[in-house]
Amino acid sequence: MDCAACHAIDQQSKSPAAGAPPLREFAARYAAANLAAGLKRDAAAGRSEMPVHQLNDDAANALAAFIQVISAPSARTTIR
Ligand code: HEC
Repeated sequence: MDCAACHAIDQQSKSPAAGAPPLREFAARYAAANLAAGLKRDAAAGRSEMPVHQLNDDAANALAAFIQVISAPSARTTIR
């Protein structure tokens, strides 16, 4: 997975690729229960500037868990 080449993966930086939303924004975009499935579907669809990525269930679940950690309000206030 090279999502970080384009998407910001921490709590505050800008994404390396202009137009790529920071990964932390996806937690708000999908309901928590649907985050893994949503990531899997959108990554597999590809986008204008985003190559197609086939995430297996383990990768999608791990990524969803990671996104929930970096986007939790408590993480924003305690980690800098
Ligand atoms: C080469 C750069 C690049 C890489 C690598 C990349 N992305 Fe993206 N991604 C983008 C850009 C640019 C957009 C916004 C595209 C748009 O809105 O048309 C985007 C959009 C998205 C979206 C939102 C799609 C939507 O429906 O709006 C998701 C989810 C996403 N990326 C997940 C991922 C994941 C997960 C990975 C790694 C497996 C990844 N991306 C790797 C550039 C990238």
